[in-house]
Amino acid sequence: YGKYMKEADVRELSAKISVHNNDFAERVSSVVALVASHARPERIVFIKGTENEQKEILKMIMDEGSLLQLNPKNYPNSYLYRSNPNDVARTEKDTYICTSGTKDDAGPTNNWMHTSEAYSRLFTLLKGAMAGKTMYVVPYWLGPLDSKYGMGGIEITDSPYVVVNLNIITRTGTAALERMAQTNRMTVGIHSTMDLIPSNRYICHFPEENRGQGLIISLNSNYGGNALLSKKCHALRIATSMARNEGWMAEHMMTIGLEEPSGRITYISGAFPSSSGKTNLSMIEPPEELASAGWKSWLISDDITWMHPNKGRLMGINPEYGFFGVAPHTSYKTNPNAMNSIKKNTIFTNVAVDDEMNPYWEGMDTKPEKITDWLGKPYTGEGNAAHPNSRFTSPIKQYPHLSKEYENGNGVPVSAFLYGGRRGDLVPLVYEAYSWEEGVLIGAMQRVETTAAAEGKVGVLRNDPMANRPFVGYNMADYFQHHLDMGRKLTHPPRIFNVNWFRKDGEGKFMWPGYGYNTYVLKWISGRVHGEIKDAVKTPIGFVPNLENFDSGKVSRNVMKELLHVDSRGYLEEMKATKPFLESFGERFPDDLWKAYYSMKERLEKE
Ligand code: GTP
Ligand code: MN
Ligand code: MN
Repeated sequence: YGKYMKEADVRELSAKISVHNNDFAERVSSVVALVASHARPERIVFIKGTENEQKEILKMIMDEGSLLQLNPKNYPNSYLYRSNPNDVARTEKDTYICTSGTKDDAGPTNNWMHTSEAYSRLFTLLKGAMAGKTMYVVPYWLGPLDSKYGMGGIEITDSPYVVVNLNIITRTGTAALERMAQTNRMTVGIHSTMDLIPSNRYICHFPEENRGQGLIISLNSNYGGNALLSKKCHALRIATSMARNEGWMAEHMMTIGLEEPSGRITYISGAFPSSSGKTNLSMIEPPEELASAGWKSWLISDDITWMHPNKGRLMGINPEYGFFGVAPHTSYKTNPNAMNSIKKNTIFTNVAVDDEMNPYWEGMDTKPEKITDWLGKPYTGEGNAAHPNSRFTSPIKQYPHLSKEYENGNGVPVSAFLYGGRRGDLVPLVYEAYSWEEGVLIGAMQRVETTAAAEGKVGVLRNDPMANRPFVGYNMADYFQHHLDMGRKLTHPPRIFNVNWFRKDGEGKFMWPGYGYNTYVLKWISGRVHGEIKDAVKTPIGFVPNLENFDSGKVSRNVMKELLHVDSRGYLEEMKATKPFLESFGERFPDDLWKAYYSMKERLEKE
């Protein structure tokens, strides 16, 4: 690695990030000084997390011209940001797990770089990267402030856009710093927008560095998961690695409390890939018929859930403080709670606007006459007005049905895991795994259609186990084993279900109404979890609802029959198609999952 930097210099860098005494203040100042000495910013600003500070930074970005004020009457204190067109989604090809071992540490689903090589490349690029700019130091806390399950980090960034987003999606500033000092735990993130040169774009994760509390370095991107390091980089990639070492789970999961007419609340967590329905399910509004009977849903988290075992159950918390949600197809019809939630104090990125500066995106309830597209050009009707991965950044506290347990540091007991994704074919609306092991297999075998949330082709099938393929910071085979181990440790492991809201008919139309209607499926799931719905139908892949006692609202029996049909031949094909992926983990893939695989296959062959 001598091409860039001497090995001794690399070790010195690493030591400055770890600081091996226990003075927390010294840890912070050592890291800040190190980054400053390389990146050479003009000034350094420590973020305190006050409202005024947020206002001032927003105003400064507006004065610079890269943030536009939206219609203050309809969207008070809300803004539009247009990112560089070459920087509109997570770029998995530029995302690396860096260790001092071998590529096996990261496994076949991640890019890997040796720690020394990464340090060399990145600190070389970082030389003078912040010249003439302000370097912000943003302390943030993930989880309820008093939670023993929470943890903190700092993001050092030259992007004021990142700062105002972090101030919404995490608990930033002094309070976060104090909690980190108490725990003496701090993940370190270093981010520079630089010149947004795609060939120099790196999103590197070092789970071993910084005393095993993790280091993240992100260069040449200023978009979402690439730049808001608290989110995918820390709360998932670094956290999954810590969670394995410490015996808990960091999942790409939404969590809700489903309240029944009796007042009983069942906590349900769901893992669907990016842009495949987590935020929407977390904000579900039960249809009139169920709502009037007393069904309600309370939001805990819309994207990430951290889960710790306690007294035989998994207790979930939301590490985040705000939403970074997909805008397109959010409407009063599909997701009224989101629409009401994002009406103020919200930053929109890459949406379109009408001639009165109201935000607009595809699928909104009404389409204005004059539209300016996400690039700032008059919209001609061709292509998308808003970018398909345009997003809103909005405070969770504005959400109208936030769970009263949201700030509970002990978390909520999770009773069910849902896996799923976009599958136009094959996968039934819902089925329940026969055991924890089979549930883990179902999660591991997820093969779903890709979306615009990551760069690359949209709508092609790819394996995305537990919707966490892009976000597990170590070898995914070990992640599967960790799943198996966690469930076995629990006296009350969550029941595992597979759901699919995206089945299409011969004309390419969705067969299930989805959105609020998914409450009918949740109702069945809750009945199963509590042992109240006993006569489900046994199929080779698991239990499916018995049509005789499945409440499907206005969806006809015929459609339901098709939606719940298990196509054994199709599933045998599916198992065959997914096998090379499971085999790509070699010896490391857990034997118990192969056992589950072959017993499911055998049942399908008997059909
Ligand atoms: P990330 O935030 O990227 O992790 O994605 P997400 O899982 O939160 O996805 P989100 O809920 O934002 O959904 C993305 C897209 O799926 C939107 O275009 C939704 O309109 C669509 N969608 C969500 N739920 C449903 C559903 O029940 N049925 C149908 N047909 N579409 C849905
Ligand atoms: Mn996500
Ligand atoms: Mn989401």
